[in-house]
Amino acid sequence: MSEATIPVVTIDGPAGSGKGTIAIQLAKQLGYHYLGSGTLYRILALYKLQRLREVDNLQALLDECEPLRIVFKPMQEEGVVQVLVDDEDVSDALRTEECAKEASQLAVRPQVREALLKKQLGFRMTPGLVAEGRDMGTVVFPDAGHKIYLTASAEERARRRQKQLRKQGISATLDRLLAEIRARDSLDKERPVSPLRPAADAVRVDSTDLSIVQVVEHIAALVQR
Ligand code: C5P
Repeated sequence: MSEATIPVVTIDGPAGSGKGTIAIQLAKQLGYHYLGSGTLYRILALYKLQRLREVDNLQALLDECEPLRIVFKPMQEEGVVQVLVDDEDVSDALRTEECAKEASQLAVRPQVREALLKKQLGFRMTPGLVAEGRDMGTVVFPDAGHKIYLTASAEERARRRQKQLRKQGISATLDRLLAEIRARDSLDKERPVSPLRPAADAVRVDSTDLSIVQVVEHIAALVQR
């Protein structure tokens, strides 16, 4: 099968729309590979925070990260993957708000997006791929057979984030989380390169009042139709 004929389902949307969990479950259901593209930006951010805080040399960071072997390993728990970078589990370190914020800042740089493009295309493998992020349907896989744009209200997304943090034993006020989500939304939507927006041929799904199972079923039905 040539690469271009390997089926791809893209799920784009803002932070907290549930696209990560949903894409992982959908990939499992379809027997496809999974790409969480935000994770690639977060890995760059983690390296920058850990190693290059003092050095503002973007190319050095990209060169260091280029050969990294990134694996999304499905876990027992539904909708969860472990992120392995050269066999090291970095899942927890990637989840912090500091890492997310740094990732969003790196993501506005065309040089960064260009460097990650090749890496993302490499995840297109048989029998298929579910790719989630901000520009999967618009830029990275414009020829995808199925494109979903997943949304939810900012308030609901903040509530979900709060629940997720509580599980990790971290407390945060809803107001603060809402402000962080809104700040990340504007950064992602207003950047000139690959802004967050629905592809012209994407199907919009609003997950505000739907459970994860309902959204997965809805998207699986669209894909298998
Ligand atoms: O999806 P996640 O929250 O892990 O993404 C972290 C950040 O990476 C996002 O806020 C966004 O700025 C950036 N990103 C992006 N393009 C993607 C995926 C993520 O710019 N396809």
